[in-house]
Amino acid sequence: MIQLAPSILSADFSQLGQQVSCIEEGGAHLIHVDVMDGHFVPNISFGAAVMKSLTGKTALPFDVHLMIEHPDDYIEDFITPQTEYITVHQEACVHLHRTLQHIRAAGAKAGVSINPATPLCMLEEVLEVADLILIMSVNPGFGGQKMIPACLGKIEQLKRIREEKGLDFQIEIDGGVNLDNIGRVAQAGTDIIVAGSAAFGAEDIPGRVRDLISRAGING
Ligand code: DX5
Ligand code: ZN
Repeated sequence: MIQLAPSILSADFSQLGQQVSCIEEGGAHLIHVDVMDGHFVPNISFGAAVMKSLTGKTALPFDVHLMIEHPDDYIEDFITPQTEYITVHQEACVHLHRTLQHIRAAGAKAGVSINPATPLCMLEEVLEVADLILIMSVNPGFGGQKMIPACLGKIEQLKRIREEKGLDFQIEIDGGVNLDNIGRVAQAGTDIIVAGSAAFGAEDIPGRVRDLISRAGING
């Protein structure tokens, strides 16, 4: 089943708990948590304390996307009973295989992401130790950007590789998903779809989440 993961990067931080309740009401499956350090990407967002402040406010699992240098130093900070995935960037990890094992040993599912300029072959040697592959469809750092359409080809290619190798990682897309393109994104073979501004930019957030889910063809 395809899952929708709204990114709180585009939420109104002054009422984060309430905003998260809205996406839950709309039927979202995960909360995408975009952590930025101002080094790996040219923007600073928030850290583990903000994510942890949501633990009593929602039952949705956390899908943590670390856009930071030296992610190994921070993995334990993001472990909570609600943490489902912790995703690091291939471009930020010198010992990526070790980092993915570190995430699993800490108690979360291990994800790895690649930027639009990074080819899929850079992940070839770690596919067997990854629970999630996150394909960036914008250059990370900011919400509200336009999707780079070539990234959909990567999703299709990755799905083929998964079948050929008999693996079972989840395929996620992040960046520029909106009501107009979410159907195509789902058809390409995406399992988890991130939507930031498309979800939180609406006046009726639960209604928008429902619309995104229905246009993605997600049932149940
Ligand atoms: C980009 C972040 C994305 C972003 C998505 O650096 O990783 O999760 O917030 O936002 P939209 O959906 O607005 O492109
Ligand atoms: Zn993200």
